[in-house]
Amino acid sequence: ADSLRTLAAGVGLRIGTAVNMDELNVDTTYTGIVAGQFNTVTAENVMKWDAIEPSQGTHNYGPADQLVAFAKAHGQLVRGHTLLWHNQIPSWLTTGVTNGTIDNAALRDILHRHITDEVSHFRGKIWQWDVANEFFTDSNPSTINPNDFWISHLGAGVIADAFRWAHAADPHALLFYNDYNIAGEDGSNAKSDAVYAWVRQLRSQGVPIDGIGNQGHLDTQYGFPTLLTQDLQRYANLGLKVAITEADVRTFIETTDANQTPTDNLATFAQPYEYSQMLKACLAVRACISFTVWGAGDAGSWVPGTFMGEGYADIYDVNLKPKAAYTALQQDL
Ligand code: XIL
Repeated sequence: ADSLRTLAAGVGLRIGTAVNMDELNVDTTYTGIVAGQFNTVTAENVMKWDAIEPSQGTHNYGPADQLVAFAKAHGQLVRGHTLLWHNQIPSWLTTGVTNGTIDNAALRDILHRHITDEVSHFRGKIWQWDVANEFFTDSNPSTINPNDFWISHLGAGVIADAFRWAHAADPHALLFYNDYNIAGEDGSNAKSDAVYAWVRQLRSQGVPIDGIGNQGHLDTQYGFPTLLTQDLQRYANLGLKVAITEADVRTFIETTDANQTPTDNLATFAQPYEYSQMLKACLAVRACISFTVWGAGDAGSWVPGTFMGEGYADIYDVNLKPKAAYTALQQDL
């Protein structure tokens, strides 16, 4: 059967994966999958601030440049991830804020410079930037989190500024707001409603935001977000692009099991179904331009390290053999 990227090209969609730069060009099976199955890639970690500027003023673009070169060689477009987020920011920055050597005015300047430097470095080479990541609370009603590191120091307006700064540095990149549970993914839909109202306001103010990325980290124990298509379409109706940016479907495993075998048989049916439903939602919305999975194989997945007792989240198993979820995506394309 054809590769995912060949099938996706046939329906005008880009299909992608997050790429782990410790594996790329090291593990040949992994490298072959990234090159052969996907026509867009996202840096899983190497474009985050702590990787890019490990000490103040010293930049390490090497691994990210390698990914950009790999993508070019393989006809892939790059999603840049991510410029403004509360996680994976450098310790020199958080330490400086804590000990008072970086006041709020200085923090704002440092952020402006970071966004300008990084976006300029990759100017012309990034298809979509996740400018801002994970700012809304999971509560009902949902709001921009006042306790977020950036918001507590610089105020909620800093998010719009980040979009302006990124746009100034690369006017052709598509600029995205990225978050989880922002399309049909909880009972109340409160978070989706809040992001929708916020982005509508930004658009009306002329802030250069082009798209909404719905991460798509699902869990078989919570079932499928049935309003996904509807919520993606609602963003699209504002003139925005949408994307599924970090799809995976985790389930319970024995923590000691290196094979990540699901403890519940239902997972073997629920997982391909949920991947399939996510892809179908993207295919149903014309403005949905890419569908990205958050890692190819279970051995490299972030899930076991983050969610106690869960794993088996990816479309390839720990030996990089395609799972039923892979076949489900292939059949939908
Ligand atoms: C994760 C990576 O997969 C891990 O390797 C890293 O240790 C932590 O970050 N939402 C995001 C991603 O937007 O950047 C996160 O990636 C997963 C959750």
